[in-house]
Amino acid sequence: MISESPSPKPLLMQLGVCYYPEHWPEAQWIDDARRMREIGLTRVRIGEFAWSRIEPEPGQYAWDWLDRAIETLHAAGLGTILGTPTATPPKWLVDSMPDMIAVDRDGRPRRFGSRRHYCFSHIGYRRQAARITRAMAERYGHHPAIVAWQTDNEYGCHDTVQSFSPAALAAFRAWLAEHYGDVAVLNRAWGNVFWSQEYRSFDEIDLPNLTVTEANPAHWLAFRRFASDEVVRFNHIQVDILRAMSPGRAITHNFMGFFTEFDHHDVAQSLDAVGWDSYPLGFLDSFRFSEDDKLRYARQGHPDIAAFHHDLYRGCTRSGRWWVLEQQPGPVNWARHNPAPLDGMVRLWTLEALAHGAELVSYFRWRQAPFAQEQLHAGLLRPDNAPAPAYAEAAQAARDIAAIGPMSDAVKSVALIFSYDSDWITTIQPQGAGLSALWAAFDAYSALRQMGLNVDILPPDAPLEGYKLCVVPCMPVVPDKLLAHLDDFKGPVVIGPRSGSRTADFAIPETLPPGPIFPARVVRVESLRPGLIHPGQGWAVRRWIEHLETDAAAELVADDGTVACWRSGNRRYLAAWPDQDLLAMVLRTAARDAGIKTVHLPAGLRIRRTGSHVFAFNYSTETIAIPDDIGGKLVLGQRELAAAGVAVLKL
Ligand code: GAL
Repeated sequence: MISESPSPKPLLMQLGVCYYPEHWPEAQWIDDARRMREIGLTRVRIGEFAWSRIEPEPGQYAWDWLDRAIETLHAAGLGTILGTPTATPPKWLVDSMPDMIAVDRDGRPRRFGSRRHYCFSHIGYRRQAARITRAMAERYGHHPAIVAWQTDNEYGCHDTVQSFSPAALAAFRAWLAEHYGDVAVLNRAWGNVFWSQEYRSFDEIDLPNLTVTEANPAHWLAFRRFASDEVVRFNHIQVDILRAMSPGRAITHNFMGFFTEFDHHDVAQSLDAVGWDSYPLGFLDSFRFSEDDKLRYARQGHPDIAAFHHDLYRGCTRSGRWWVLEQQPGPVNWARHNPAPLDGMVRLWTLEALAHGAELVSYFRWRQAPFAQEQLHAGLLRPDNAPAPAYAEAAQAARDIAAIGPMSDAVKSVALIFSYDSDWITTIQPQGAGLSALWAAFDAYSALRQMGLNVDILPPDAPLEGYKLCVVPCMPVVPDKLLAHLDDFKGPVVIGPRSGSRTADFAIPETLPPGPIFPARVVRVESLRPGLIHPGQGWAVRRWIEHLETDAAAELVADDGTVACWRSGNRRYLAAWPDQDLLAMVLRTAARDAGIKTVHLPAGLRIRRTGSHVFAFNYSTETIAIPDDIGGKLVLGQRELAAAGVAVLKL
């Protein structure tokens, strides 16, 4: 995860906006830039979809308008984050190379007419992406207005990491040959004797889609690793060019929410700052939240959605530099239901990013576009140029950031370990509906946050020094580095189900799970349909149970004798799916063992501690009093916190 930061962390978080000068008459740009500065914005992200305007004809560049746009923004005092436009290859390019198009899982080519229609493995497209990146870097690499580069836009958005094209097939075979060397090794590793799946050469191996019933899970896992590596490679091409041709500028990419299709730890290795796009209301409506939560938090977003990703993406680079490159400003256009945020939420989301250490929050977008796909997506301005509600909230957030002033970094407390291949393994072979490592991580994170704890979400090779408690919610393949770090770790460790349950090639380990991470053997697993539960005292085993042979102590036992949590030394093993009530029980005890003070936060209230301040955020629709045991001198807001309110206490 090593990434050197070219510039030191600025003292105050900056605010910015995503802007599309090509969508508006040039006469409007000066006033746009002036108003951006007027409300306290200092950064503007442009360019990421502008290929057809930058290069209207093959090889004929039209830089003049972009020169003037960048100059106009620069003259107003705005630093530009320039996007490479490779998410939107223009029509002439696609027509000149039709096989660059990605193919979906059902074998259908994806058409031109929206975005992200390219296949990551297509060599010709990679060359074109490199060419346009080089042309932009040549033009603007040393321009004083350019403070950063964003590569492409949201790798994988619209289900585009995996492509089942001829280009992907050829590249996958080469990848397999490189990884396994000998096809006999692959046959053994995948267990291809099963159902006569044995191959005589790498060239006989197809992509894992369109099989009659499920393909071999080892085949899928290899394909997902391959597809992830293709994203890494694609990104690298641009990063190498930008680094060489535009020294001193940070390179970033905007990751998405609840998205695990590629290994973000791997992609982040080449970035200076990790970016992500925060749409709390869209995510609440689109992802696996209960109907109750979807209603309760419809205008606020679930209180842990944004924070979870802040802490996940901060952990992706050693430098810890991360940005919110797109912040929801109002209703979006892409979820099934798109309500407006409660008054104050845009400001709350902004200040929450600050509390988690963001260097930048950039609103998406400046002005709502009255045309094309996203015409119902709000901006800071309405299509008629009048302020939308988020305009004043962004301005308020800018004043708040200045009023809060510099802060010290957060103190280390809980390390939560997550790996992307854990999510691939649990979704390739879930064994029970909806059981995935990502959601195990989210639920553990949420339980810890409800106790008022700070959590760092770390990759499995991260050092654990300085942490007091370590939680590994679900890690089917346990890397040796993690084992070594856990051996050195003296604080309590909570290990979740399915950990150590697979080899790197998707087989049950010979000595049975969970292996060296916990002294036990899992001899049987069951998934449980909703309602099939083993009740305990104030908690229950739901969804998943593992039966263990072990000398460890049974620590939490359900009324019928089913053991939900085992303990050996400083390690606990959760044998049941980490549901909220069970998690709360186990994590509170582990936190007590670690000597960490927890608080009982009222529903909807969340806090975040930095070294110098405590932030409180009210995600509910009612006024909430901040509990007395959260002390400090108020520098913002009140202890009686109104709905969508933020309070900041100085320690
Ligand atoms: C993001 C994307 C933006 C815009 C936005 C709308 O996923 O990066 O270009 O489409 O969503 O919410």
